[in-house]
Amino acid sequence: MSLLITGGTGYIGSHAVVELLNAGDDVVIVDNLSNSSTKSLDRVEHITGKRPIFIKADICDKAAMESVFREHDISAVIHFAGLKAVGESTQIPLSYYHNNVTGTIVLLEVMKQFSVKNLVFSSSATVYGENNLSPLIETMPTSATNPYGQTKLMIEHILFDLAKSDPQWSIISLRYFNPIGAHHSGLIGENPNGIPNNLLPFVSQVAVGRLQQLSVFGDDYDTIDGTGVRDYIHVVDLALAHLKAVTALSKVDGCIAINVGTGNGTSVLQIVNKFKEISGVDVPYQISPRRPGDIATVFAKADLANEFLGWQAERNLDDMIRDTWRWQSQNPNGFE
Ligand code: NAD
Ligand code: UD1
Repeated sequence: MSLLITGGTGYIGSHAVVELLNAGDDVVIVDNLSNSSTKSLDRVEHITGKRPIFIKADICDKAAMESVFREHDISAVIHFAGLKAVGESTQIPLSYYHNNVTGTIVLLEVMKQFSVKNLVFSSSATVYGENNLSPLIETMPTSATNPYGQTKLMIEHILFDLAKSDPQWSIISLRYFNPIGAHHSGLIGENPNGIPNNLLPFVSQVAVGRLQQLSVFGDDYDTIDGTGVRDYIHVVDLALAHLKAVTALSKVDGCIAINVGTGNGTSVLQIVNKFKEISGVDVPYQISPRRPGDIATVFAKADLANEFLGWQAERNLDDMIRDTWRWQSQNPNGFE
């Protein structure tokens, strides 16, 4: 039996594939390479000594997905595939709704057709919207402020409805906080297209000389130093949460949402200072206006992951920054 990993050549997916292969799982990856390349597969093979089966296909392509399930004995799916840039989602919302929501519906239809009813889904802390105070708890009301966030929320609603309609489904929706870092080998890591939107890729590209300076979006929030606070989580810890989730599917009747964060908040300036300390490289920055849609503080209550999955983050901020820097300095232009 194999695990189907959609989006398995991407940032989080490739780290999950490494941990799954190391744990002895058989893996089949489906990815359309819209935001990744097969070079990550070479690196995964280098790290693990195993090459996962890779099928270039779009999850929206029902015939292609049917043939994946026909040709492989799939026991469960980890569903990473999706578009993820918040700003871009406001420019091309239809692409986001089609790719993320329609793509997930097609995947679920094919899973149902082949009686594969075990799923781990990549959700996001974005589903907590702007009206909840941290620490964010799974039982809080959800909402979304942009098309990307809407797709995550809609998919969660679809998953809850599906699981209610048929008790054979076991679904875990993992709500990621802010994944950063890279594999400690420095061989795989985050490789954003164009100018990065997220903080860590931006900081590391400034440090490596690809970008001139960081804009710190706002220094007048009600936080420790006025800059935004987030719950950064090492991508390898996040990957390991997926292994625990796959195992825990056997005790899930229906659908359950679980936060994947550390429970700790770190400010933008704390990140910048830690980055300078660890890399020994200056990270010039200027204070800029707040970014629309940002909130001051976001961090998880991470107890449910511990109780239900037996998982907790083990890597600290130093590990996260050190591994980000190793990846970026060894691969200044990503996989190119
Ligand atoms: P990523 O872009 O690196 O990986 C996503 C992968 O999915 C890419 O390889 C892309 O080519 C593939 N893909 C996209 N649409 C596809 C389609 N229609 N068919 C087949 N493949 C497709 O992103 P990531 O950071 O690894 O994120 C993985 C998942 O986690 C996404 O669903 C994302 O929304 C979610 N997530 C990410 C973050 C984050 O900060 N990185 C936070 C919360 C949730
Ligand atoms: C962003 C998305 C969120 C998504 C998450 C993970 C927005 C409004 N939110 O959240 O939906 O789930 O990424 O992909 O885009 N910062 C700077 N300068 C920068 C970049 C960021 O100061 O160049 C600050 C931000 O204001 C924030 C912090 O750094 O305080 C983290 O930003 P980012 O990495 O974009 O993550 P989120 O804001 O949590």
